[in-house]
Amino acid sequence: MNREVVKAFYGSFFHAPVYGEFEFLEFALIEVNDKGYIERVVKRNDPEQPSLLREYRDQNILVELGFDRYGLPGFVDIHVHAPQWPQASLALDEPLYLWLEQRTFPLESKFKDLEFSRKVYEHLVEQLIARGSTTTVYLGSAHLESSIQLAQICSDKGQRALVGKTVMDDPNANPDYYRDASAAQAVVDTETLIHEVEDIGRSSWAGVWPVITPRFVPSCTDEVLKGLGDLAAETGAYIQTHCNEGQWEHDVVYERFGKTDPYVLYDFGLVNERSIMAHCPYLTEEEGELFAKVGAVIAHCPMANSYFSSAVAPIARFRRQGIRVGIGTDISGGYSPSMYENIRQAVLVSRLLETGVDAMLPEDRRGGLGNNTRVSLVDAFWMATAGGGEALGLPVGTFEPGRAFDLQVIDTKLPDSNLTGFGVFNSPADRLARILYLSTPENIRQIYCQGKLVRDKDAT
Ligand code: GUN
Ligand code: FE
Repeated sequence: MNREVVKAFYGSFFHAPVYGEFEFLEFALIEVNDKGYIERVVKRNDPEQPSLLREYRDQNILVELGFDRYGLPGFVDIHVHAPQWPQASLALDEPLYLWLEQRTFPLESKFKDLEFSRKVYEHLVEQLIARGSTTTVYLGSAHLESSIQLAQICSDKGQRALVGKTVMDDPNANPDYYRDASAAQAVVDTETLIHEVEDIGRSSWAGVWPVITPRFVPSCTDEVLKGLGDLAAETGAYIQTHCNEGQWEHDVVYERFGKTDPYVLYDFGLVNERSIMAHCPYLTEEEGELFAKVGAVIAHCPMANSYFSSAVAPIARFRRQGIRVGIGTDISGGYSPSMYENIRQAVLVSRLLETGVDAMLPEDRRGGLGNNTRVSLVDAFWMATAGGGEALGLPVGTFEPGRAFDLQVIDTKLPDSNLTGFGVFNSPADRLARILYLSTPENIRQIYCQGKLVRDKDAT
């Protein structure tokens, strides 16, 4: 026996190691070591499998998923505004600048109160885990303390997390009651966040990392953008921001700099292989080439784009350009904390981009770009798992040796959410489609992060 194996999982698993493809591991045995990484995947036809199963059963370290249950990799959600959780689903008919001014800034300002922020953040992290998200990239509020608190909560609850303190220092763009005291203070606070979160990361099981987080160009002074760019160069920390999100933001930035977001951010040292750029529906071919060249990542937030961008991000083109792309729920620009919902929306909006939407116009004048814009369900599944791992440079998102074992167990046979079909159309692809399109949080029974059980809905 392999002495490193401390837990083994037997059942049927779906994953997508390659963009555009999925693999069905039917009746496979996955061995997990004492650090929570996958040692080996023993497939059904491996002659060793029966004896290993016996051995692990005897040792009492075998978890059997059971019939009608399937394992999926834990999701990687690469863009979430943690302090916006209390307003998820509210005010989405407003344009971005009003939504920020009237709702978001007043709400986020409340996270000065650490008791309030603890209540919200604990609830949010639990809700995300319950929906299968084992890795999440968070933007905190502009407050240092509550952002550090968020990192600690993720670590305590066993979720792998990247956490930033949002920087918004420009007195002309942000309300007096909610902004950084100065550019210098924002940079110092970000530096403190980096040290503190790295500290939490050292004792966390699945890992917690700091993120340099200028909110977006319009809310930041040149001085702070430069300071954060310098800090990125010094520390090599992750960076996240909103980029090319909407027409208003695009115009404001162009008026100020005579160039667009990607070049402004790049010139301040904020676009590199550790950068997560949220949204990007306005990203041109040329800007996309820059991202591909430096290795910057795009966080595709299909729900939020439908509300705030007046556009659909051309994800298929980004992939053809060689850009890394993951999916973000963008709570609360997107209302749903579920990556399942966002996988579905990623597929749906790509179809609107394909055809255009005004049926009163002739087919060839509806603004559709043709069928090389499609994001298939499997493409979106990849982005939510392996693509997210690739985006963050972390070994997560597939069931392959050397990857962290992040698992969600889907029960397809619940009385009120039965995904088993009627004995027709039951290929692995069909089964995966039913799971991705139809499952509810109820169907997700167990969630493991880095080999540890972080939620068991069958336990009570
Ligand atoms: N741009 C600046 N701040 C935000 C935010 O909180 N949400 C979204 N969607 N876009 C932004
Ligand atoms: Fe966002």
